[in-house]
Amino acid sequence: MIKHPIGVFDSGVGGLSILKALRAELPHEDFVYVADSGFAPYGERDECFVAERSRAITRHLLEREHLPIKALVIACNTATAAAIHLLRQDYPDLPIIGVEPALKPAVALSQTRRIGVLATRRTLASQKFNALKASLGTQAEFICQPCDGLADAIERDDTTKTRALCAEYTSAIGQFGLQTGHIDTLVLGCTHYPFVRHHLQELIGPEIHLVDNGEPVARQTRRMIAAMSPQGETGQLSLFSTGNPAGLWLNVAVPTHPLSQLKSAHHGESA
Ligand code: DGL
Repeated sequence: MIKHPIGVFDSGVGGLSILKALRAELPHEDFVYVADSGFAPYGERDECFVAERSRAITRHLLEREHLPIKALVIACNTATAAAIHLLRQDYPDLPIIGVEPALKPAVALSQTRRIGVLATRRTLASQKFNALKASLGTQAEFICQPCDGLADAIERDDTTKTRALCAEYTSAIGQFGLQTGHIDTLVLGCTHYPFVRHHLQELIGPEIHLVDNGEPVARQTRRMIAAMSPQGETGQLSLFSTGNPAGLWLNVAVPTHPLSQLKSAHHGESA
């Protein structure tokens, strides 16, 4: 039986935090991951640019001669906000799952009803995010911090800059703690930020909830593709990058297969 993979993309390594949850939830599926590192970061670009990149990558994943994808996971909050509605219009029969900042789970966890949100400038400016925030506005106060440069510093593995930006942005958000008026929950609204979860936790204190979306997205993907799920062998993984693929090697928490640039995509397939 031909086994079509699930496509997953992000501007870079961030989406690997989602891929990890997907592989745990769907161990028999094959995945093709594209890191658009040659055009990253997305978070400080305009909406049209991010939408066009999302369309180009989706086209590529659907036009793979031998094995087009059967479903798409946009493992990027910024690209989901800019493009999921367009991609669903373009491909009405393709199951498409997106990622959005985990405001609802944060509301369920918070006692003080003051919730911090770290995300890219583009995500926070988007209509999609603002509609979500408004829909929950009576239940909690959200303090949103655009994190210019943070995804890029994580992508480049620049520890000094990453630490400095985490300190700057968490202190700009306000006082964390469990007392009334304090922020007791922090949403990681960009898929790059789970990679610095431990560092953020050190800065804001061990009692503060940190919330991201990997597991809910993986469960939602399983629900959406239930009828097409394979059984049997463990699935395979192919990783591609439009830029330097080296970072993918370091960040994927599973055995990797040969990598290649997107333009020579077939050479990167795992056997
Ligand atoms: N990882 C992405 C997100 O979830 C975008 C990071 C970037 O390229 O700015 O928003």
